[in-house]
Amino acid sequence: MRTTEPFTDIEHKPIHIPLLDHPKPPPPAAVTNRLLIRVQSCITITSVSLFFISAFLLIILYQQTSTNSALPRYSQSDRLTWERTAFHFQRAKNFIYDPNGQLFHMGWYHLFYQYNPYAPVWGNMSWGHAVSKDMINWFELPVALVPTDWYDIEGVLSGSTTVLPNGHIFALYTGNANDFSQLQCKVVPVNLSDPLLVEWVKYDGNPILYTPVGIGLKDYRDPSTVWTGPDGKHRMIMGSKRGSTGLVLVYHTTDYTNYVFVG
Ligand SMILES: *[C@@H]1O[C@H](CO)[C@@H](O)[C@H](O)[C@H]1NC(C)=O
Ligand SMILES: *[C@@H]1O[C@H](CO)[C@@H](O)[C@H](O)[C@H]1NC(C)=O
Repeated sequence: MRTTEPFTDIEHKPIHIPLLDHPKPPPPAAVTNRLLIRVQSCITITSVSLFFISAFLLIILYQQTSTNSALPRYSQSDRLTWERTAFHFQRAKNFIYDPNGQLFHMGWYHLFYQYNPYAPVWGNMSWGHAVSKDMINWFELPVALVPTDWYDIEGVLSGSTTVLPNGHIFALYTGNANDFSQLQCKVVPVNLSDPLLVEWVKYDGNPILYTPVGIGLKDYRDPSTVWTGPDGKHRMIMGSKRGSTGLVLVYHTTDYTNYVFVG
């Protein structure tokens, strides 16, 4: 065999493979990488362990919480926030119910309603007052009517408001008197040029109506303004009852102070 000739593959392999396979010393960068990989694996293992431990603890905590209460927990103030009405009027606090007359005056919609200024339960019934330009955004005004006189000292109860063609305004309400009989009363705004109609004054001649014969003293309330008939007389109706039968009592008037019982 001539040494000048190139080796065949078969002859070449046994001699050179060990040399080719000789491990080279790793370059310094590779050493750093390997160390980093080890540190990373340690961190990964620790994280995974922590994750499982936390998950386990959370499951135990969740089970304990859900056995106490099936509902998510909210603080009282959270609950009041999301339970408040979105569009309908609601006072910031305390008890309201019956709307007591709505009217439009100088660009404002007025709303009156039964209101207890002191507590979130029935009592000290007064007429709350609110105004709106769009009937969505409401502004609370000072309470319009409060119990002050013998004929309404136990409550300024429900009623209605009337705007007359000449621009005059008045309201009728049921006074819960000092003996708890129900009497009808009249009230007018102090200043008609005030768009907010903040102040109201009770009519000197109150009460304007007493319970008719045959009607229970406590079954006579909620005077509601209706319409003027073809006879030029204005109609007003009231809620009542005889026995267990509900009654609507009809009155008419020409001066809005003296009401005549029709039937
Ligand atoms: C009305 O308010 C007054 C003063 O806060 C209170 O003394 C009275 O007990 C209240 N009456 C009712 C029925 O809540
Ligand atoms: C009535 O209200 C108008 C508008 O707010 C005001 O300018 C006027 O001074 C008030 N009149 C009285 C007597 O208070």
